[in-house]
Amino acid sequence: MARTAGEFDSWYAERTGSPVADELVRRVLRLPSDLQSTSLLGGAGLDEVVTALDLQGERVLVNLACGRGGYGLEIARRRGCRVVGIDFSEVAIEQARRRARELRLASGCRRDCGRWIWAGSCRGPGSWMSR
Ligand SMILES: C[S@@+](CC[C@H](N)C(=O)[O-])C[C@H]1O[C@@H](n2cnc3c(N)ncnc32)[C@H](O)[C@@H]1O
Repeated sequence: MARTAGEFDSWYAERTGSPVADELVRRVLRLPSDLQSTSLLGGAGLDEVVTALDLQGERVLVNLACGRGGYGLEIARRRGCRVVGIDFSEVAIEQARRRARELRLASGCRRDCGRWIWAGSCRGPGSWMSR
């Protein structure tokens, strides 16, 4: 059964208070020590994706259903590319935006594409992605 944006909002809000859950996921999936995942892609798979995409410079990664942005932000950090994260959970996008700032990846956030889609964007240190 499809979940609503509100249900995902609640799910992400609960995860904020559960750092242990994030740590367990990271250990099981062998992910980098600060990546926030709510998915099943492991560290080796992420390495393969990074190699296959070969994103550099001005290339833009569109991270659909990005959640907290864990994978997209990690790819941006490794390759210095732009990433645009799209998700219908406002709570998830807010957490992704906060994470981008912690990683010193500039980040903007705006409500876009009508009522339900929020988009965050970031790119390498020191610059904002223009609208
Ligand atoms: C299982 S989580 C995966 C999140 C992220 N990709 C990750 O790997 O950590 C699924 C995500 O899809 C988003 N989502 C589900 N249906 C959506 C829709 N119709 N439009 C936009 N986002 C959606 C949810 O808000 C949630 O963040």
